[in-house]
Amino acid sequence: MLLLLHIFGFFIFNAGIGDRNHRDSKNIEKVYDYVKKEIREIIDDSKELHIYMTIQINQCNLGDLRTLQEISIETFNETFKDQNSPENMDAYLERAFNLNQLEKELSNSSSRFFFVYFNNELAGYIKVNIDDAQSEEMGNESLEVERIYIKSKFQKHGLGKVLLNKAIEIATERNKKKIWLGVWEKNENALAFYKRLGFVQTSAHSFYMGDEEQTDFIMTKILN
Ligand SMILES: CC(C)(COP(=O)(O)OP(=O)(O)OC[C@H]1O[C@@H](n2cnc3c(N)ncnc32)[C@H](O)[C@@H]1OP(=O)(O)O)[C@@H](O)C(=O)NCCC(=O)NCCS
Repeated sequence: MLLLLHIFGFFIFNAGIGDRNHRDSKNIEKVYDYVKKEIREIIDDSKELHIYMTIQINQCNLGDLRTLQEISIETFNETFKDQNSPENMDAYLERAFNLNQLEKELSNSSSRFFFVYFNNELAGYIKVNIDDAQSEEMGNESLEVERIYIKSKFQKHGLGKVLLNKAIEIATERNKKKIWLGVWEKNENALAFYKRLGFVQTSAHSFYMGDEEQTDFIMTKILN
């Protein structure tokens, strides 16, 4: 803003001198060109500011085990604790996200985890499975998105789409014909997100949250 005032002041000042001294219009044009150049620089600066909002995806390895456990528990709690009993939540968190279990999953060559960072801050993660790592027998032409979680404060910034596009990229590289996932029938946000990105419901399966049997819709996207 200060720079703009400075430029404007410069323009008026020079234009004034021009008038007082009856300089020819070329002088005014010179000032005008200078102002245009400065404004272009300001616009370029603001584009640079935009570039500073970075999104980065990194594949996880065993060194990320504890961070993976933390973000898995944090995002699962954020998503489901209001609609499930504390006992069922605790049972699920203990079973699914204990260090041994996550270590096994990270070491499985048919599974891959990725973290997504927003401005260098860990914002979410995705887990994809192929072949026998898939949680249903879908065959070797499919890729499963078993988990996709964005921390609540980073949701609706396009990060879920970035992660899902990563899954599509991996599936395409491996010549998979479709991507599929299971989503709780009551998870309306996620259902809306998947539908927006071209998934359709193809079947359903049971999911156990502690001792409670819940229904997950199977959503599928055919790849071109
Ligand atoms: C579901 C989730 C992964 C979506 O990620 P996100 O970063 O919030 O979504 P994005 O900003 O990338 O949205 C991508 C598109 O989906 C749309 N979308 C996202 N959430 C939506 C909603 N609740 N209703 C309608 N559209 C929605 C966006 O508008 C956007 O559309 P556009 O491409 O036309 O702009 C994220 O909200 C999340 O982690 N939720 C909690 C965990 C969860 O439920 N995971 C799924 C378990 S199966």
